[in-house]
Amino acid sequence: MKISVASFGERPKADLLIVPFWEGHVDAHRFPMLQPLVSSGDFKGKQGETAFFYPENGSETRLLLLGLGKEEKGSLESIRRAYAAASRAAQAKKVRSANILVPTSAKLSHEQLLIAAAESLFLTNYSFSKLKGDSLKDNPPVLLEQITWIDVEKSSLNHLERAKKIVDGVFFVRNLVNDNADDKTAALKEAASHFAQNHSHVTTEIFDKKRLEQEKMGLILAVNRGSKQEPCLIISSYKGNPASKEHIVLVGKGITYDTGGLNLKVGDGMLTMKSDMAGAATVLGTVQTAASLGLKINVTAVAPVTENGIDGTSYKPGDVYRAYNGKTVEITNTDAEGRLVLGDALSYAAKNLAPSCLIDFATLTGAIVVALGEEVSGFFTDDENLSKDLMKASKQTGELMWRMPIHPDYKDAMKSEIADLVNSGGRDAGSIKGALFLQEFVGKTPWVHIDFAGPTYVSKPKHYNTAKGTGFGVRLMIDFLERRERH
Ligand code: BES
Ligand code: MN
Ligand code: ZN
Repeated sequence: MKISVASFGERPKADLLIVPFWEGHVDAHRFPMLQPLVSSGDFKGKQGETAFFYPENGSETRLLLLGLGKEEKGSLESIRRAYAAASRAAQAKKVRSANILVPTSAKLSHEQLLIAAAESLFLTNYSFSKLKGDSLKDNPPVLLEQITWIDVEKSSLNHLERAKKIVDGVFFVRNLVNDNADDKTAALKEAASHFAQNHSHVTTEIFDKKRLEQEKMGLILAVNRGSKQEPCLIISSYKGNPASKEHIVLVGKGITYDTGGLNLKVGDGMLTMKSDMAGAATVLGTVQTAASLGLKINVTAVAPVTENGIDGTSYKPGDVYRAYNGKTVEITNTDAEGRLVLGDALSYAAKNLAPSCLIDFATLTGAIVVALGEEVSGFFTDDENLSKDLMKASKQTGELMWRMPIHPDYKDAMKSEIADLVNSGGRDAGSIKGALFLQEFVGKTPWVHIDFAGPTYVSKPKHYNTAKGTGFGVRLMIDFLERRERH
């Protein structure tokens, strides 16, 4: 997508001009030809409201009136949602080029308004067509190829470039999540090694099955037993501030497909399970985006990758396996596989990577979706500072987070008669018990567990998210890392 700026008077020809209005302030003084439309009362400027107008002459084929809602209620998120509505309306008309006006507001700075609008247009401008067949020829998706921001200073172009890089990180995750399950292991490995080759401050190491055996990562190997494809552990590091000891380590669940194993998922329970590697994609995408933005921080992604398949050789309920940190786990449910692969990865990271904090991303439990739905992710931590920064990042980015309790009394449910731990402690408080299991593998390192099973994969497009993979987490983490950078 080509991005430029121009004054109103010198704007280029385009398929569309986006004209935003706050609700109750719809006046047509800049566009007298809109007067009849405005007087009709058909367009009131309500949040996300759109109306097309076709002028007889001018630089654009059509004008798109865009409602922003009440100015006093205006926020970064309300702007994002409004421009997402504009972007979808434009897509429906197969618009390729757009001139875009940015609103003014007493509440939000010009820069904030510009960035929110841009983020949203970029995020909406996505289509995953790799797996389409004939229908692609009949109805090819048309995306914006050229946008011009009107009356925006040249000096703002760097904000727009920054927003574009972050959205590229989001798309990286969406593409990996939307891809076929059987292609994911190769795609994740390829993405991590390719990026390291092209970026001087990034290194990637990939442990193959043999190395995992040498390292005695018994839980990743147990989950992998029912799969034809070999497992791996991807470690991708970006050193943006070599002088600093701070090292943020992100660990992401990389289950390329979750059948449930011998505790096979039933009904439609398996249908969305190609998305069970979203954690791995998110941590790799975050490290790559941090590197392409040149953030002055040190951040590493660790991703245990395997399918949770089903086969005669599958790991079995009742059997016991030994983790990297020496703890033994009685498998009480082969469908609680995410915590197993994360257990090995977290304890490896805690022991070998000198992390100043650990943050894991996982589509860990269905229970978190029952509790918080498709819009909100749950997080668990005992560290007040990490919790505060995460909530600030959530507020800024609109990626919604809610803190859940790591209630220690439920630990009893995770004890085993024949081993140190069980991997599943029953349905009630399922997400908390998942967190309590993971806590056994982080030692004393400050740690956050993010269970984002809800927002990472959705059935329908909503606001600036497209259907299926949303890429939730990259925008949140980049904001979080930038806060660390400023500390
Ligand atoms: N990947 C699933 C969790 C999940 C469910 C993500 C629905 C997205 C949507 C996870 O591996 C799982 O199966 N969890 C079990 C845990 C249980 C066996 C303790 C669950 O949630 O039922
Ligand atoms: Mn599972
Ligand atoms: Zn899973």
